[in-house]
Amino acid sequence: MERLDLVISGGEVWTPGALVLADLGIIGGKIAALGAPKTLPDAARIIDASGKVVIPGLVDTHTHHREPGFTHKEDLTTATQAAAAGGVTLSIGMPNVDPPTTTVERYRNVIELGRKKALVDFNHNPSGTVPEQIPGLAEAGCLAFKIFMVRDTGRDYPHMPGIGLHNHGELFRCFETVAKTGLPLMVHPHDQDLMDVLEQRYWQKNDRSPQAYAKAYRDFDGIIWDTAIATLMRFQKATGGKLHILHMSTPGGLEMVRRAKEEGRPVSCEVNPWALFLGSWENVQKLGPYCLGFWVPEAHVEALWNGIEDGTVDLVGTDHAPHTKEEKDIGWKDMWQSPGGEPQIQDYLRLFLTEVNRGKLSLDKVVRITSYNPARIFGVYPRKGTIQVGSDADLVIVDMKKEETISNETTLTRVGWTPYHGRKVKGVPVYTLVRGKIVYENGKVVGSPGYGECVPPLKG
Ligand code: DOR
Ligand code: ZN
Repeated sequence: MERLDLVISGGEVWTPGALVLADLGIIGGKIAALGAPKTLPDAARIIDASGKVVIPGLVDTHTHHREPGFTHKEDLTTATQAAAAGGVTLSIGMPNVDPPTTTVERYRNVIELGRKKALVDFNHNPSGTVPEQIPGLAEAGCLAFKIFMVRDTGRDYPHMPGIGLHNHGELFRCFETVAKTGLPLMVHPHDQDLMDVLEQRYWQKNDRSPQAYAKAYRDFDGIIWDTAIATLMRFQKATGGKLHILHMSTPGGLEMVRRAKEEGRPVSCEVNPWALFLGSWENVQKLGPYCLGFWVPEAHVEALWNGIEDGTVDLVGTDHAPHTKEEKDIGWKDMWQSPGGEPQIQDYLRLFLTEVNRGKLSLDKVVRITSYNPARIFGVYPRKGTIQVGSDADLVIVDMKKEETISNETTLTRVGWTPYHGRKVKGVPVYTLVRGKIVYENGKVVGSPGYGECVPPLKG
């Protein structure tokens, strides 16, 4: 064997079959060897991983990079710095930027920006709202399409015209067109007509508080989500396309996904860290706009954990959605004037590893929902999402015993705050490598903008 560029020695290494004590050898950014400790040839550099666990880099299929258009919140550099610090080696952007990515030309522009500015690998999920553009976008190398079923009332951000589609006829046309590409269609489910009625009940009482907003989204156990998901399921059945449901948080929605999977249909869903770790009523009261999006009651959170355990939930997308403090503070008075969403990408691996230490789920499950499954569903496996010879050396070295307190001071998102400020975690990424290059090391981002590559779908 040629001389290795790098060996990661003495760690417990995650592989799809088991956790094994092994040394990993890397050549040219790829995993070249996986062998018993101290059996690999010499290397230019060795990282001692004894006492640590090596897992595949995280694949986040739902990051709001905010560029172009909203770079006062985040850009492709700050988002991917936070990603590197959070163990994410492939971060896939969302189309609610300005101009929204509804055309091939706009998609290409975002990818060019990424090539100049991203520290980790990336791609971008364009909007699937313009049927004529869909085949060209697929050709240009996107991994999936995104449609929001939301038409915001009283604000035009974060759901600006062009990305939202609620009319069932138009939505169906997009479903048919995306289905023909073979790529997944990710949809933010939302029943706007129903929402119009429900939210007005709070407004009539002059209640525009964060609590009222949270309740409107969860009225009747989240009816605005479930009716939308039911429609999407029916469209999926009719078109046969791959449907990926976003923001799963209701027991009713989980049931529909469970049934579709039993029928062998290509339906998948994501859960967001905010649903598991942030959306309690206590936090709605205490953090107000800083915890919304949405409220997820305890019984629904438990249903999500069960869905993760039994495989109904396929993956975690961060929905990393930074907004400035000024933008959030408006929400204390009128949450309908303030955008939902919070920074997530730097913190979520730490939050999940803490749950592993508490015995809530296995490390293997964390790897599957954050890396292996997203890589498979979005067509980049086995280049990404696994540790095996021939795969990209996208790796996270994790110290399961290390404790930290999440803090606004160390957060890397441009907005400078995290909803998890003050939270104690146990289980921390200490190195992140993208294609064999260290981009994060012991608390410091060391990668450079422009290193990140756009990752297209693997053929076949
Ligand atoms: O809360 C949200 N924030 N929901 C979305 O659909 C978009 C996101 C954002 O971009 O801020
Ligand atoms: Zn989102």
